[in-house]
Amino acid sequence: MSPDARGFKPLSTVLSRRCGSDPALQQLLEILADTCINVAERLQSSAFRRNTTIAGSQNSNGDLQKPLDLEADAIFETHLALLPNVAALVSEERDDVHWLKEPSAGDFIVCFDPLDGSSNIDVGMVVGSIFSVFRLEEDHQPYDLLSVLSGQNQIAAGYALYGPVTELVLGMGDWIDGYCYDPASGTFYRTHPDMTIATDAKEVAINAAREALWPSPIAQFIRDCFTPKLSGGRGANMRWTASMVADVHRILLRGGVFIYPEDREQNARLRLVYEANPIAFLMRSAGARATNGRDDILSLPVNDLHQKVGVVLGACDAVTYIQTQYEKA
Ligand code: F6P
Repeated sequence: MSPDARGFKPLSTVLSRRCGSDPALQQLLEILADTCINVAERLQSSAFRRNTTIAGSQNSNGDLQKPLDLEADAIFETHLALLPNVAALVSEERDDVHWLKEPSAGDFIVCFDPLDGSSNIDVGMVVGSIFSVFRLEEDHQPYDLLSVLSGQNQIAAGYALYGPVTELVLGMGDWIDGYCYDPASGTFYRTHPDMTIATDAKEVAINAAREALWPSPIAQFIRDCFTPKLSGGRGANMRWTASMVADVHRILLRGGVFIYPEDREQNARLRLVYEANPIAFLMRSAGARATNGRDDILSLPVNDLHQKVGVVLGACDAVTYIQTQYEKA
């Protein structure tokens, strides 16, 4: 496909160069892009089908599932099952690994949160999907899946944002590109090649309602952020949409830091495998850092498919500063 009139390259053209000698991965990423278009379309028609309320079930994290959580999950499965080399799926909405075939070397495993921030659906705010891709290697046998799913083994990751425009951010570890969906042509076009995060922490995304539970390095950093520059602080602004993809995307484009820490009672909110790891993988390519406060997210061992983790990610200087405060605490 050739560039459109504005000079933006279509996803398939970009991926054929980005994936080079890996047509199987290119095909998988294109299927994931189609999946996100399908989820976006389902969201757009949801109000008329009255299915934004609670489905009555809970996922393994204890979150109440909405019909759209389950529908988005089914859309991922339907699309991914079309490919003969996707061996298994790991979804926020499923307790266990969903095997599609007998695994063999070269097969893909795809982990995803089909509808991130779904509490925002009823009120028409931005939600998203997050996914990451692993490839089974000979030396992974006998396929101890938890060790395969270590953040460092991701070969690609992405997220979609369902807002005023359907956006897609994709990366393979050494690049990260942003795309916007053009409904007229049914195509994602690359609008943000080689994204890099701004170095200055201008904005902070944190759920301030949990302040009483913040560990002291976070409490101190946030106090400093919200102290005006005139008084010696960072003079930062706060934004919180309660949808990780939206908050992270804003931080990626404008600079800043996203924080959902493990609290003083050692509770965390976000999931390592299909939320924190893919986002950390993407952010690293954009020149950002992602830690749980102390350690790099991507280095953390995976002990459970639905394990939760504290997240501090964004501009390197802020993330490293917070890490130093944790080390001193
Ligand atoms: O995955 C859960 C999630 O919806 C994230 O997208 C978001 O960042 C967070 O939870 C919101 O948490 P809270 O309800 O505490 O604001």
